[in-house]
Amino acid sequence: MKIFSTILIITVLIFLSVAWTNNLFKPTPLKFVVPKNWPQPVYDFKNNPLTKEGFELGRALFYDEILSKDSTISCASCHQQFVAFTTYGHNLSHGINNSFTTRNAPALQNLAWQNNFMWDGSINHLDMQPITPITATNEMGETLQNIIIKLNRNKHYKQMFKAAFGNEIINTQRITKAISQFVIMLVSSNSKYDKVMRGETKFILPEQLGYEIFKQKCVACHKEPFFTDFSFRNNGITADSNLKDFGRMNVTNNKSDSLKFRVPSLRNVVVTAPYGHDGRFFSLMNVFEHYRKNMKVMQNTDSLLQHKIPLTNFEIGQLTAFLYTLTDSAFLNNTMFAPSSYNIAPNFTHNH
Ligand code: HEC
Ligand code: HEC
Repeated sequence: MKIFSTILIITVLIFLSVAWTNNLFKPTPLKFVVPKNWPQPVYDFKNNPLTKEGFELGRALFYDEILSKDSTISCASCHQQFVAFTTYGHNLSHGINNSFTTRNAPALQNLAWQNNFMWDGSINHLDMQPITPITATNEMGETLQNIIIKLNRNKHYKQMFKAAFGNEIINTQRITKAISQFVIMLVSSNSKYDKVMRGETKFILPEQLGYEIFKQKCVACHKEPFFTDFSFRNNGITADSNLKDFGRMNVTNNKSDSLKFRVPSLRNVVVTAPYGHDGRFFSLMNVFEHYRKNMKVMQNTDSLLQHKIPLTNFEIGQLTAFLYTLTDSAFLNNTMFAPSSYNIAPNFTHNH
């Protein structure tokens, strides 16, 4: 009898302690707000529920050079907040050992609505995306195994993984999910354009005229509200003789996809120079000159561009005024997306 009651008591105690520890793991849900009049996002939140702790871990990782082989490059080295998470002033970005990327870093914004990633759509799940820069020899040149070893040496990270996922286990899936939680929150929806659409303010005349021209000549590809229809198109851009980048064709092996690139969003476009998949256009004026004069009409060039895009200097001025209304300074300055105290505190000593 005695032995039975001892077993019973022990079982109850084990049960209670398991219930208790499970109870302790209560991450704070983080709400993803869909801006008014926008479609539902395509990202599968059920598979990676957003939490404050997961987001904070993702942000710490995004800003940490620990993800690169020689601890010199973080995601944020190439994706800088004040320029909508592109690389400021660079056509191509720097990776480790003075290497360069072969494409212009895109802005990171509104990724929750995107079905595929990169200029050629070579990646079709956001959670898979970080593996490419982490392992690419011209970006971070590191291995996931080694990152896991480095993170395990750091007690702050162990705490953050526990807070986000319930225990201290650090693995590839948790790393990529946490990073996704950070980048998915990068929603830009508060530009002057958005405020006008919500009826909170009005365009001034040049902006309004620019918007009308935009709707005639640009919106077919740079579709509202994302200012891209997420399709791959040939806008008359020729291959750079060094980079020899044929865009979408690299993914599909289909000749008809030669020199097609994803239509980039024009949100925050004024701050994201240089432009184009390889950053060949240093200013908006270069882009306008491309559309009205320099572009090459080839076999694959989009049917909408068979006659290039006629644009007068006057129209260019108005279009430019309109494009300025797409700058979302609340997004560019949102402290929620800036490096946290984790990344700047002196006690955040990396055991690199
Ligand atoms: C050395 C510079 C560099 C680093 C470091 C870097 N990126 Fe990028 N990132 C780029 C470039 C260049 C592209 C475009 C690549 C392409 O189109 O082939 C890109 C593309 C992306 C995209 C796709 C965006 C879109 O609209 O398709 C995401 C998301 C992204 N990076 C997130 C990250 C994250 C997260 C990290 C850190 C783990 C990171 N990047 C590190 C340069 C960098
Ligand atoms: C047929 C579709 C199409 C039309 C119409 C079009 N674009 Fe584009 N646009 C593209 C594609 C595709 C790219 C990417 C080119 C590349 O990869 O280098 C692009 C790139 C751009 C860029 C560079 C953005 C960046 O971040 O790199 C700007 C700016 C731009 N377009 C503005 C305009 C304006 C303004 C109009 C109207 C006058 C317009 N586009 C009409 C398809 C189009």
